[in-house]
Amino acid sequence: MEQSSRNRIVTGFMAVAVAIFTSCTSEPVSVSPDEGIRLYACVDADGVPSYGVSAWGSEVLSMSSLGIDAEEADLAGGFIIDRVKKSRHDEVWTQPWGENKTVRDRHNEMAVMMHNHDGVKLTLRFRLFDDGIGFRYEYETVLDSLTITAENTRFNFASDGMSWSIPGNFETYELDTREMPVSEVETANTPFTFKAGEIYGSIHEAALYDYPEMNLYSCGDLAFRSELAPRPDGYKARVPGVFKTPWRTLQLSREAVGLINSSLILNLNAPCAIEDVSWIAPQKYVGVWWGMHLGTHSWTCGSRHGATTENALRHIDFAAENNIDGVLFEGWNKGWETWGGRQHFDYCGAYPDFDIEKIAAYAKDKGVSLWMHNETGGSIFEYEAALDSAFAMYQRLGVHVLKTGYAGGMPGNIRHHSQRAVQHYQKVVEAAARHQLMVDAHEPIKETGIRRTWPNMMTREGAKGMEWNAWSAGNSSEYLCTVPFVRLLSGPMDYTPGVFDIYYETAARYPDRKEWNGDYSSCYIKTTLARQIANWVIIYSPLQMACDLIENYEGHPAFRFFRDFDPDCDWSEALAGEPGDYIVVARRAGERFFLGAGTGSVARTVPVPLDFLEDGVTYLATIYGDDLNAPVIEQPDGTMAPDKTAYVITERTVTSSDTMDIAMAADGGQAVVFMPV
Ligand code: NOJ
Ligand code: CA
Repeated sequence: MEQSSRNRIVTGFMAVAVAIFTSCTSEPVSVSPDEGIRLYACVDADGVPSYGVSAWGSEVLSMSSLGIDAEEADLAGGFIIDRVKKSRHDEVWTQPWGENKTVRDRHNEMAVMMHNHDGVKLTLRFRLFDDGIGFRYEYETVLDSLTITAENTRFNFASDGMSWSIPGNFETYELDTREMPVSEVETANTPFTFKAGEIYGSIHEAALYDYPEMNLYSCGDLAFRSELAPRPDGYKARVPGVFKTPWRTLQLSREAVGLINSSLILNLNAPCAIEDVSWIAPQKYVGVWWGMHLGTHSWTCGSRHGATTENALRHIDFAAENNIDGVLFEGWNKGWETWGGRQHFDYCGAYPDFDIEKIAAYAKDKGVSLWMHNETGGSIFEYEAALDSAFAMYQRLGVHVLKTGYAGGMPGNIRHHSQRAVQHYQKVVEAAARHQLMVDAHEPIKETGIRRTWPNMMTREGAKGMEWNAWSAGNSSEYLCTVPFVRLLSGPMDYTPGVFDIYYETAARYPDRKEWNGDYSSCYIKTTLARQIANWVIIYSPLQMACDLIENYEGHPAFRFFRDFDPDCDWSEALAGEPGDYIVVARRAGERFFLGAGTGSVARTVPVPLDFLEDGVTYLATIYGDDLNAPVIEQPDGTMAPDKTAYVITERTVTSSDTMDIAMAADGGQAVVFMPV
């Protein structure tokens, strides 16, 4: 349960002379606690507010206007400032799981209270942290409800720079990341990461509830505006007459990894809303999953059916023998033959060859957590109607983890990232909490830090995951070096790492394998095996999967890493990296430390001081690295490259005063387990 150490909270209020805000001035109206980040703000002659941001002496955003348009009232202009309230906040809070169990929230707040000719009251609430700012609109009208037609939050870049993002899209995040100058970006989703001058930044949102997601649309001249996912009728949202928007956020750092190490998004979310969190805990898992994507197995009942009783018991045994907490079974329930059309899934009815009662009893006996999977195909209304009865059944079976999926269009032209969909995803999280279920959502709404308030919302997909490697050109090593600086800034990702059979040789031996999603002949994993291991550390998820067919792990020396790995970390730090080029991350769980490093298409050696280890303790470091002398072989797509399956495991003792040279092959990586001796 979330606690705050009250003795550390310093909250001071200060009524500030209104004059500083009524016209544009060269003086900041607020600064971050360490004074590195400065906020500028004013209300122009038409009563339209605007803001600007500088960091460490450089202008990041020039004055950028703020406002929302609605049908029923003027929410955009004519504002007169009534009062400015400033406060300081410094608190340390803890969470049941996360990259860091303990988080410091130190910020200066400035609330600007205004009203206009329509009787609309608007508070613009800004929070300045040492690693960025957040602000949101809080409207009060006398109306029952409002129809939002546009949000006009501007982000006017003061200078051009490089950016990393996916294109704007209100249906999917499963898109390739792009590296391009800010000036060339037409639309982008968030997190939108950039480097301008010497400063790294990322625009995103926090605490997205009952409102559409925000994309960034270029207005030319380095200016962007917020574009909200529309409703089917073209409006953006229906909101009550008194409402708050999500926070608009700008993380800032002088180092790229500073963005990863920021807790700003979590700090802008409300404390935990779940009283008893004793059933919420990180897990490692395996599953009947990758075989379906490879085509060795099927979701539907038949000769290749993956979720059979026999296969389930085999996976439970494997989990129990390998220090793995849970097992996921996709294709356990009736309805898969309708997927992709007007699908109807039965969330309570198992296929006849999946004896759910027997499997649940067996899992319980072996101390293995049984996961349920609910693919909806996007049929959200049917799913909402089934939530409580299905979740009650899972609870009775002792299930605590639920993977959901929305692979398919939502009915009536509802977009996956629209207000109605946001409401749906939240309904699922809250229903799951009532039945003690942790959620792993695929095709989700983006994470905006709601895991702080709803810590059963463990992880989600929301980017191109492992599945793309089974049936498409897949995910490059550059992509995997970009995702930590873009998608992962929003929160955990269920990427489902860990394919050891890089060239799908086991799959090729299945006589009735069926390619169901195009031509698979040139598909393979685009990184080395060591990088697959490193991804378990790099791509943070409290539910972390070893996704390969379990026969590819049986007897494999490198699988020891996953047996030793603990996803329930206490502390994390991204140590080094640049978007698209490389990344090095360290985490501590109890007494053990784990390090994961990855590079793009360029081989590199990164010297890493081990000063994050406990002083005075000697550790045995088990190093899972690339074989730098691997023979060059022809890859399934006809290119020539060193054999990606070649790896070496070495051991050495180290202390916190050592530096380790992390040597990685092209598309490679390295993973290290540090155990006290
Ligand atoms: C897409 C999900 O991302 C994947 O993990 C799942 O196997 C399929 N949908 C089927 O539900
Ligand atoms: Ca997916």
